[in-house]
This record gives sequence, structure tokens and C-alpha cells, in this order.
Amino acid sequence: MPNMDITQLKSQFTAQFGYAPGFVARAPGRVNLIGEHTDYNNGFVLPIAIDRDVTLAGALRTDRTVRVYAINFDQTAEFSLDHIEHDTQHDWSNYIRGVADVLQKAGYTLGGFDAVLFGDVPIASGLSSSAATEMATIMAFTAASAGDDLHTVPPTLLIDGVRGAQLAQKAENQFVGVNCGIMDQFISSLGRRHHALMIDCRSLDYKLVPMPAGATVLVVDTTAPRTLAGSAYNQRRAECEEGARLLGIASLRDITSADFDRRAHELPAIIAKRCAHVVHESQRVLDAITALQGNDIAALGALMNQSHDSLRDLYEVSSKELDAVVDIARGEPGVYGARMTGAGFGGCAIALVADEHAAALARKVADEYPRRTSRTPKVYACIASDGAGWKSLPTMS
Ligand code: GLA
Repeated sequence: MPNMDITQLKSQFTAQFGYAPGFVARAPGRVNLIGEHTDYNNGFVLPIAIDRDVTLAGALRTDRTVRVYAINFDQTAEFSLDHIEHDTQHDWSNYIRGVADVLQKAGYTLGGFDAVLFGDVPIASGLSSSAATEMATIMAFTAASAGDDLHTVPPTLLIDGVRGAQLAQKAENQFVGVNCGIMDQFISSLGRRHHALMIDCRSLDYKLVPMPAGATVLVVDTTAPRTLAGSAYNQRRAECEEGARLLGIASLRDITSADFDRRAHELPAIIAKRCAHVVHESQRVLDAITALQGNDIAALGALMNQSHDSLRDLYEVSSKELDAVVDIARGEPGVYGARMTGAGFGGCAIALVADEHAAALARKVADEYPRRTSRTPKVYACIASDGAGWKSLPTMS
């Protein structure tokens, strides 16, 4: 899918609907630097928003219809805000429907809109195109509720970034039916250019941490199908909950690494492995922040390596393709660390690499990975980017 600038997107809108759009809302995908499978255990995470977005160019309607043309799928979906149902023909539209449903149930008054949707966040690759669609939808409803001109009319649907993330997560949990934690929506909402975001998934406090100068985050999409992702994800969640129950705590957040190590023998072997990953991974996030604050990129890289090994051996959510990427990257010059990112079972791995070695690493992966897996990877450098917003302020049409 070629990239699209705002002008192209606006003309797509005009071609589709016969008039000019009033707003361009956007929200990014994400990669997680460290803190995997900790969010639904109330732990810490450290993701960045990436420079790939889902964008909605749209305009307010005077009725309660939402009509969206998705460029990536060449499909139009339409629904009334008075009657929101699942759409099995246009799966992508369920993120939009879900957000509308949850916002209304939370008491927000919405207006309908027409929009064209375009995403350059790869779909089903573990980079959170779904969270990006949800957050872009919240921005679109905000813009639509402001009428034609955000310069003079304050939006009536001003949603705080944390609240927006919570509502988008609810849409995914309750309407789409995916039992995810809050990380993806939160970073898509509140990411900041050149910063990582530490999120405390219990209190929802968060802190921006500057990304280290001189290091590139290289994303490698394994292009392997993520078949087990849904069922295994829910199974891991259940194992963590069982561990917390057996330890007599509300969640795995409520035990220190040291106390857990003393008590791990109380748990069945599999549960102990899963919980050991979560408890130590959450601590690794705090250690990673210390490393970042001291500009100790080597220490951050070492923590990323430990994270991957733990996800592979204890949490058992890696795959041979993810392991292959990590293995290739770790042997290369300038690489501080490499790990899978996101839920696992396929999807993407990331490598933290010195800027001057990033291009050579990308070439090496493109060359070596197909030899090991018979698959062609997609490799891109990403830049920590801003969370949800407007690509340009709405113009009078
Ligand atoms: C998916 C979920 C997140 C999080 C990660 C694993 O991306 O959507 O909430 O649980 O997996 O860290």
C-alpha cells in the first residue's frame, strides 16, 4: 500500500463523497521497547508510538450516520449511531462501531460523519493497527462534534488522553471481543515524538522518557501468520490470574521480584514460569528507565535481550521466526539488544542498533532471514512519534 499525504487523502474524500473534508484525524501504531505481557497484570510497560498512522479524513454530517470508505480494503461501511451492530462483511469497521458504541454508553453525544480511512500501520503484524484505528476514531468523533471549525468552536467531545485510551480498550474488549490490556491504546493516545512512555498499568500514571540519541529502533516484521495469538493470549492471562490467586495477591504487580523468587515453589511448574516472566519483566521496565535516564544504551539492550529470552523460555510466546530475527541481529556490529515485541506468536521483533550500523543490519536481516525461514521479512527503522491528534487543523470547506 503506497503512502498517502494529506492532499491525496483529501482528494480521495472529495472523489468518494462529492464535497471537501473538514478534518484529518490520526493515531499511530506502536512498538513496545520492554514490558511484555505485563499490562494485564497491572505492571509496567515502556512502548513508543511509531511514525506510522491510521488516518481518517472526514466531515461532520447533519444526521446520525457514520459512513467510512477504507482505502486499504476498497470497501465502504455505513451504520447509524442509533443502531450499532457487528459487521462481519467489513471487519475493519468494527473498531469504529465499537468506539461509537462505547462512547455513547459512556454518555457522550456523538454526531455522524463521512470519512475515508487510510492506514500505513501494517495490518495484523503486531504493530497495533487496531488500537490506532480506535484512537483515530475517537479523534474523528471529537472533530465531528466540533462542527466545521476547530479554530473557533471548542469540541464538545473533549476526551482526556487516558480516558480515551480506557474507552478504546473497552471497545476492543467488549465490542470487538479481544481481551487485550491497555498498553496499545494508551501509547497510541499519549505517545510523544522522540520519547518512550512508561505506563504504570495499575494507577495509569505515566512518564515520558527521552529516547537515547544515536540509536535506531529497527522493526522486523517476520511476515509469519499469528495463528495461535488469540487463544494462547487468553490462556496466558488465565495462568497469571491463577498464579496471583494461589499467591493470595490481587495481581502479579503486588509481589516484588525477591518475594516471588522465595515463593515460586508454591506454584505448579507452568504457572511458576509464567509468573516469573511477568514479575521480573515488570522490574526490567524500571531498570530500563534507569538505563535510559543514565543514557546507558548498552544496559537497555541487555535488558531487551533478557526480556526476549524470558518470553521465549518462560512465557513461551515467541516463534521460530522471531527467534531467528533476534539471533541474526544479536550477532551484528552495533546491536545493543533485540527482542520480540507485542503479544508474540509471529508479528514483529525489534533491534536497538547504533545509527551508523542500522542500514547494514537491515541488509543482513533481509539477506539472512529468508535463508533460515523461507520467508521474506519487512524491515523498517522507526522514530518515536506523537500520539493521536490532527494531521492538520480542520479547514472550512
Ligand atoms: C497485545 C495486547 C497488549 C499487551 C501485549 C503484550 O499487544 O494488545 O495489551 O498485552 O499484547 O505485552
